[in-house]
Amino acid sequence: MAGNALCRLGVLVSGSGTNLQAIIDRIIAGEIRAEVACAISNRADAYALTRAARHGIPAIVHEQTAFPDRRSYDEATVEIFRCYSVELVILAGFMRILTDVMVDAFPNAIMNIHPALLPAFPGLHAQQQALDYGVLFSGCTVHFVDCGTDTGPIILQSVVPVEQDDTEESLTSRIQQVEHQTFTEAIKLFVEGKIQIEGRKVRRLP
Ligand code: GRF
Repeated sequence: MAGNALCRLGVLVSGSGTNLQAIIDRIIAGEIRAEVACAISNRADAYALTRAARHGIPAIVHEQTAFPDRRSYDEATVEIFRCYSVELVILAGFMRILTDVMVDAFPNAIMNIHPALLPAFPGLHAQQQALDYGVLFSGCTVHFVDCGTDTGPIILQSVVPVEQDDTEESLTSRIQQVEHQTFTEAIKLFVEGKIQIEGRKVRRLP
């Protein structure tokens, strides 16, 4: 991002919003030159909405039920983001696959965090998939979003060792501890214009 203006983030959430909170906290600490322009949830009961509202961030409930299909839902989401002049879309625990409508509206400007080392274990229950496979290391991946399921260019990854007696819950909680730093670091790189995409590869600029 060029210039001194704050990068306007549009955050999509479905759940507890610990990643959203980490983003807000690093912005408040002056470590990321951005502002959360709005937070949108597809679930009215998402605690992430409470977190956003507490910080004076517009917290919007946007449920699928009012729309006939995923594309029309995404069209409406894009419209909301345009109203808030969003420049970078953040999927922070958003439990829906985006359509081409959203991906085309924000080319190379949608980021997701996934709780595994992609391309291993995409999709739901990534932590349980990792345990079932018997890997010794898992972690999290921040990547740009394309129309596939967790397939876009990888920006940052962090490794978490899997312990012998790990359960889905214990592994999830240890991965979450590194998610917050990894996700906010990727956002910081983007905001500072330090990311360049070359095909599938993301180059980090000095
Ligand atoms: C995270 O574990 C993330 O990897 C996954 O959804 C979860 C969101 O957690 N995509 P939170 O709502 O940020 O606490």
